[in-house]
Amino acid sequence: MQTSAPKQFVAVLDFGAQYGQLIARRVRDHHVYSEVVPCDVSASELAAMAPAAIILSGGPASVYAPDAPDMDAAILDMGIPVLGLCYGEQIMATKLGGSVAHTDKGEYGPATLTRLGSSVLLDGTPQEGQTVWMSHRDSVGEAPAGFMVTARTETCPVACMECPSKRLFATQFHPEVRHTAYGAKVLDNFLFEVCHLDPSWTMDNIVEEKVYAIREQVGDKKVILALSGGVDSAVTAALVHRAVGDQLTCVFVNHGMLRKGEPESVERVFTKEFNIPLVHVHAEERYAKLLAGVTEPEEKRHIIGTQFWNEFFAEAQKLDGVEFLAQGTIYPDIIESGARKTGGKASTIKSHHNLIPFPEGVHFDLIEPLDHFFKDEVRALGTVLGLPAEMVYRQPFPGPGLAIRIIGEVTPEKLDLLKNADAIVREELDAYNARLFEETGERNSEHSCWQYFAVLPDIRSVGVMGDERTYGHPIIVRAVESSDAMTADWAKLPYEVLANISRRIVDEVPGINRVAYDITSKPPATIEWE
Ligand code: XMP
Repeated sequence: MQTSAPKQFVAVLDFGAQYGQLIARRVRDHHVYSEVVPCDVSASELAAMAPAAIILSGGPASVYAPDAPDMDAAILDMGIPVLGLCYGEQIMATKLGGSVAHTDKGEYGPATLTRLGSSVLLDGTPQEGQTVWMSHRDSVGEAPAGFMVTARTETCPVACMECPSKRLFATQFHPEVRHTAYGAKVLDNFLFEVCHLDPSWTMDNIVEEKVYAIREQVGDKKVILALSGGVDSAVTAALVHRAVGDQLTCVFVNHGMLRKGEPESVERVFTKEFNIPLVHVHAEERYAKLLAGVTEPEEKRHIIGTQFWNEFFAEAQKLDGVEFLAQGTIYPDIIESGARKTGGKASTIKSHHNLIPFPEGVHFDLIEPLDHFFKDEVRALGTVLGLPAEMVYRQPFPGPGLAIRIIGEVTPEKLDLLKNADAIVREELDAYNARLFEETGERNSEHSCWQYFAVLPDIRSVGVMGDERTYGHPIIVRAVESSDAMTADWAKLPYEVLANISRRIVDEVPGINRVAYDITSKPPATIEWE
């Protein structure tokens, strides 16, 4: 069993890149651990982190702008291999005595690369005609002394430069972007031909490392975990359980607004398949009372989030001697909330969209084994840990649950209508995604739906069923293609799939007499309705 955190890691110095996180992800795709570090880290701070390699990210600024992000030039002199990308190339050039020029024409999008002589970084890629992705206005005019220029494009004279003796390399193009045809090969060359790293950051090794670290941290103490039904808390539970077995108790607060079948599935997987001690808190009625008469979405969110922790901590107090709280905080939670800077961890709990402080008088030591993982890595870990695919590949689902998909007041009757209609939408689109998976072999192929659900608006409309007029509820179907929820497009579902969903909902859910499909992208709309 391994005994420590990943031994080799690649530090990505972030100069405000659109693609900063993406660089770290791509490095990890090569089975080498990578983390994003602020660009103003000093050489001595970085030395203490002991990266095996450094990548300087891109960024939107001009290196000559007065407030342009800067770096400690001594980092280029540490003897650690460095790869500068875009802005990273430009700052490397300026720090080492080269020049950066405002070009007349920027280069945005695809460009064609011409290689010049031999190159370690571009080894194994075509001499002429390979497509690279550019996004810059300034570019390096003259490479620093000791560097060879190894590629250019029509408008960019130093598209790639290298100083192999000092192990300093740079490209103006973005190898981390899929549109760069040989981007993966360029990263491969840097990581393995230049840095001689070991591609050992695999999911099996990670599980072993994490299990060991959790055991070290917890000893013989008890751990509690709030299970939400979502991927992150489920994977955390499976991992912590593998490390400390029955010292872990999971608390599942059922607020009554999960999707049809979900509470049963959580209970079955964790108690029957994993044998994890689980407390199922039936809080449905307390939530129904708290939400009666509430129509504002933000108020609903607040009530649901606050009550969740009330329920959870009330249960935690009933268990003796619990010292640790495990939670499924993941890397984007930390980066996006800005709550923690690299190195320093504040005590915060993950609450739906935010990291929030512990309530007064409550304290646990935190165990957050996923806090440096991206979502797709969390899914891969879940698979290695043996969680079922429907849990691991579960679509994103908001913490406040169906409450924000019922416009206006949440009542038990409306919850019932929505749960039944939503189950049909999921059943049909799960099957549609499965067909695409079979055809393409990709779980998230270009046209598979990323998130799909039903919404119950606060209106009624007339209809006719048999010989009778009806006055029922409409259901809105929402299905989007997206990869990160930041932007989304409505899914161009085949008519027969839509027709099937509509027919089944009206046939099988009494009280619904009309089905509409939301054909708005994000922006200008959002994915959820509230
Ligand atoms: P929007 O609606 O803002 O949603 O486009 C983006 C992503 O966030 C999810 N979402 C939430 N998740 N609590 C959550 O945990 C919330 O209050 C919430 N609101 C939206 C949404 O499902 C989508 O994946």
